[in-house]
Amino acid sequence: MQTSTSRFETRAVHAGMDGVRELGSHVPPIDLSTTNPLPSVELGGRSYEELAGGQDLGDDRSAVYQRLWQPGVARFESALAELEGADGAVAFASGMAALSALLIATASAGRPHIVAVRPLYGGTDHVLDTGLLGTEVSWATVDEVADAVRADTGLVVVESPANPTLELVDLAALARAAGTVPLLVDNTFATPVLQRPIEHGAALVLHSATKYLGGHGDVMGGVVAGDREWVERLRQVRALTGGLLHPFAAYLLHRGLRTLPVRVRAQQATAGELAQRLAAHPAVSSVHYAGLPGQDPLGLVGRQQAGPGSIIALDLDGGFEAAQRFVEACELVTHAVSLGGVDSLVQHPASLTHRPVAGEAKPAAGVVRLSIGLEHVDDLADDLLRALDVAALTAAPMASDRRTFAAAAAD
Ligand SMILES: Cc1ncc(COP(=O)(O)O)c(C=O)c1O
Repeated sequence: MQTSTSRFETRAVHAGMDGVRELGSHVPPIDLSTTNPLPSVELGGRSYEELAGGQDLGDDRSAVYQRLWQPGVARFESALAELEGADGAVAFASGMAALSALLIATASAGRPHIVAVRPLYGGTDHVLDTGLLGTEVSWATVDEVADAVRADTGLVVVESPANPTLELVDLAALARAAGTVPLLVDNTFATPVLQRPIEHGAALVLHSATKYLGGHGDVMGGVVAGDREWVERLRQVRALTGGLLHPFAAYLLHRGLRTLPVRVRAQQATAGELAQRLAAHPAVSSVHYAGLPGQDPLGLVGRQQAGPGSIIALDLDGGFEAAQRFVEACELVTHAVSLGGVDSLVQHPASLTHRPVAGEAKPAAGVVRLSIGLEHVDDLADDLLRALDVAALTAAPMASDRRTFAAAAAD
């Protein structure tokens, strides 16, 4: 039985398991019911009203309908909230569904203005830049945030480490600059193993749970952790708009949390060693990885973030052509979008995840992003160093390569 003094690893294994033993089960059962029998018209109606209004399931209430409340989803939410040090959490069908719910919640409360610090994940950048959900964005550097905040600002949005080039932001300083405006930190890259933004003044923490929380590339989900008031509003948005997490996805994400500390630390150890080895290759002009000398100017690793994590970005000499050669030459490391799983992935942000990002904010054409998995470091090094040799080939790029990049750059 875990206690309030249990260490993080113990809590990661046992969080969200309350009541499971009483069911006679060792692991949480997966309840696929979309609807639930109602004991009476009166109780059904009252339960519906409370849940659709964002309240949690009361003791003598019915869960009514899966869109309103689901036991496996609630277990995952309570486990994630515990690991992030939040009052609660609300889970969604994807990271983008989670962000959308937040934007709907803040815009509909009369605060549609968002101050956002780049770089951000391309999808986040896109939904903010287009104003698709009725918000208006002001892009700001960390130093500009205090001046950018207005009376109708609903959120300050940041990622740290940022996708794809891994800049670290001083969250406590940013929370001060945001003043009374809630600071939303996308903690997808760090996970609560390495960083708990609420301890540094954030009001809200978002995860693309699709990444490290699931950890095996086989489940999509998103989750927001925050205080009781935010949890209630987000549950209400979810109940009304329907971006809910599937019970099987909730099961997999909850299970993923149990091995999260072990995976994150092992992947980080491999990434740290690889970052050094890759930095020495002549095709690499710079490596973005906070564990390397000179890459953490604010001294945030150790103070805000327990380690540099397991995402590495390489800036390749030779720009797009070199990047294309590199990602296409990787064999053990799969050329694919996403990150945070047990197997290593590589992708070219400017033509993929950050394709919709406006011209000046788009990552440089020579940047490739690596998500380091659990393979042996020497096998990864063999594959990546060989692919860097290919990237360094001086042969002229094919005309089709140039057309591909021209199309990407025009977006
Ligand atoms: C940092 C970050 N935030 C949010 C998202 C969006 O999450 P999802 O793909 O689960 O919708 C992603 C996806 O890559 C991401 O990398």
